Amino acid sequence: MLNLTNLIRQNIKSLTPYSSARDEFTGEAKVYLDANENSLGSPLTKWYNRYPDPHQAKLKEAISTVKAISTQQIFLGNGSDECIDLLYRCFCNPGKDNVIICPPTYGMYEVSANINDIEIRKAPLLENFQLDLIHLENLVDEKTKLIWVCSPNNPTGNSMNREDIETVLNNYNGLVVIDEAYINFSRHKSFIQDLADYPNLVVLQTFSKAWGMAGLRLGMAFASSEIIEILDRVKPPYNINQVTQDIALKALEEVGQVNDMITELVQMREALKGVFEKLPVVEKVYNSDANFLLVKIQNARKIYEYLLSKGIVVRDRSNVLLCDNCLRITVGTEKENTILVDALIDYMKF
Ligand SMILES: Cc1ncc(COP(=O)(O)O)c(C=O)c1O
Repeated sequence: MLNLTNLIRQNIKSLTPYSSARDEFTGEAKVYLDANENSLGSPLTKWYNRYPDPHQAKLKEAISTVKAISTQQIFLGNGSDECIDLLYRCFCNPGKDNVIICPPTYGMYEVSANINDIEIRKAPLLENFQLDLIHLENLVDEKTKLIWVCSPNNPTGNSMNREDIETVLNNYNGLVVIDEAYINFSRHKSFIQDLADYPNLVVLQTFSKAWGMAGLRLGMAFASSEIIEILDRVKPPYNINQVTQDIALKALEEVGQVNDMITELVQMREALKGVFEKLPVVEKVYNSDANFLLVKIQNARKIYEYLLSKGIVVRDRSNVLLCDNCLRITVGTEKENTILVDALIDYMKF
């Protein structure tokens, strides 16, 4: 059974959180002289002179409707990268605790652990890019606070088997963080609706991918209200700026448009996969549940550099475990995809 009291860091348990001006007074006032803002305004037509809502109440209401989850189970971060960092800061004691990642996977789990001086243990994915449950189990000890599962996984693009994730959730007493940054492009369903069954589950999602708002920096963590309360205590008071709150609120009224983009990107992903598979330089295109394809290609580095010389940037993953000679290629617009494919055809003529 999860014992949250034992999991949380002692100094966080006893922390008195910062109380902002906007915490101490909520509601509408005639005159605001409590937060040392510039009362004269901003050098802009729209004013941003007031601090944003530290609790992001309106935005959480809107997210709660779209995701069918209570507002108490939502944490908002300055990108999911902030949620990743906060999970370390709330639950992992520097120099003492450890966490497990399953490489190849998203790089920030390890970087953020290193920043926080948390030991990283690695249970590499199997050849089929699925979780190695036996290795995972062998790595766990009483100091293992988190297990990171990225599904769909970056850079491999596949979703992890649901039963495997459930096995981890059922047999491990620390937190299992499922990073669902790419879930909207997947044929599998999110774990959000399973939160009631698993008190040790944290689900991460983001506005950076399907929602098309990477520039705004807005990430979400969904978990029990007890876990969310701990993250809220530690976050910087105004971590989600006013512009982001305003625009995200508007975007949430456009779910239909987002769904159309998802449909289009998934169609283009599958079309692009078909085209790549016909190119003689391509050895394998992995199935993807994300908005990118992992492509095994002859001489990946050389092709990466050739593409760069043509002004086309993809991600060279050829030095990453299990990704020999692999490029990770984001699905672009129809035009961008054509430019890329034409460049690859030109390369083969040399
Ligand atoms: C798996 C995964 N998680 C999280 C992120 C970061 O998301 P955000 O932009 O919300 O910080 C990325 C970005 O590429 C990602 O691939």
